[in-house]
Amino acid sequence: MQRDHWTSRFGFIMATAGSAVGLGNIWKFPYMAGAHGGGAFLVLYLVCVLGFGLSLVIAELLVGRMSRLNPVGAYRKVAGGAWPAVGALGVFTAIIILSFYCVVAGWTIAYLVYAVEGTLTPTRAGGLDALFDNLIGSGLTPLLYAFGFVIATILIVARGVGRGIERASKLFMPLLVVLLLVMAIRALTLPGATDGLWFFLKPDFSALDGATASAALGQAFFSLSLGLGGLITYGSYMSSQQHLGRDALAVVLLDTGIAILAGLMIIPTMFAAGMTPDQGGPGTTFKVLPAVFASLPGGHWIAIGFFALLVLAALTSSISMLEPVVAYLVDERRVSRTKAAWLAGAVCMMLAVPVSLSFGAWQGVTLFGMTLFGLFDYFASNLSLPFGGLMIAIVVGWILGPKAIAAIGPAGSTPGLWAQGWLFVVRFIAPAGIVWILVQGLL
Ligand code: PHE
Repeated sequence: MQRDHWTSRFGFIMATAGSAVGLGNIWKFPYMAGAHGGGAFLVLYLVCVLGFGLSLVIAELLVGRMSRLNPVGAYRKVAGGAWPAVGALGVFTAIIILSFYCVVAGWTIAYLVYAVEGTLTPTRAGGLDALFDNLIGSGLTPLLYAFGFVIATILIVARGVGRGIERASKLFMPLLVVLLLVMAIRALTLPGATDGLWFFLKPDFSALDGATASAALGQAFFSLSLGLGGLITYGSYMSSQQHLGRDALAVVLLDTGIAILAGLMIIPTMFAAGMTPDQGGPGTTFKVLPAVFASLPGGHWIAIGFFALLVLAALTSSISMLEPVVAYLVDERRVSRTKAAWLAGAVCMMLAVPVSLSFGAWQGVTLFGMTLFGLFDYFASNLSLPFGGLMIAIVVGWILGPKAIAAIGPAGSTPGLWAQGWLFVVRFIAPAGIVWILVQGLL
């Protein structure tokens, strides 16, 4: 059977940007920035993304394109020995991330329903905070939404790469950007918003510590979908004629731009509402946005459009979490694509049950001082993804080395000088940066 592949360069960029752009940008980035000092976090985040994140995105895609395999098989093919275990850790991490990602995506679906019903008005009885707290605290409702989201993910992944994943991303990404722009402009003109703008853009370096650095690094990896082999898998469907460096740059800039736009939309709104920025936590986006909608003409329709697009953005990310797991089961275990998608999805749904409850009935159950959601997120974002990035840097920088430059293409052309700079970053800067921040975070 011929391996799936992207139908065009534009399709690849849209699917990969679709993977990168998601709840990480619009839900996670603003509350993380708020909790970790605003501008200082933003600077560190940008340092991680541009300093070595981009280079590692290229490295992961390259390993995928060179091996044309799932993460486990790819590590076996390019590095051998015990390296496939790193791929397996990535596949495991993908399952962990999807099992909390689907819970948050479920909230987004619930908010889409509220928007359609017209219940998102700031003047509603009990207030907007209560609306959110009731949702996440009620046992069954958020779970049903989460399950619905996972099932949608399964159905798309089961259809395969070109027809399912690519088509969905091409249409919705551009729409999302336009809507975010409108919302950010409105948020910035709310009374009291300017203080939020300064908090977000002006770095106060006294806020810098190991925890902030580790959070910024984790957020960079999470947002770039980096470190678990999702990009290996997407790279494995890529044509060797494609210009890897240029296309990865487009994806990374789009992802970073959208995260900043989301920060500009959420953080000033928090200040306008009199909230302190570190107060919001995982509910921030949901509690803050309705105020922006209410202040816009046609806010009802904008709310519907916004949450619909956010659900879709989450879907184009969640498929890139399920896809490496499915590719592994298909390539290595000879399971059919459909069966693999349902199997992996079912495991995520099972894990989603305790994660969702950790926002309600099981809020008090903690391990290492974290709820189950906190623990899953910490394990994935702060430990496993950076570790995976470090491993990719070692494999591409030191095991492949010049072979990586020879393969970076486009096929038949001599790579420009940028490729030498890229390899230098992968060899030295990325490992040094990751190890340094990992150690700071653990101290
Ligand atoms: N990058 C995605 C987001 O920002 C999340 C993601 C993480 C997707 C890891 C794939 C792998 O929402």
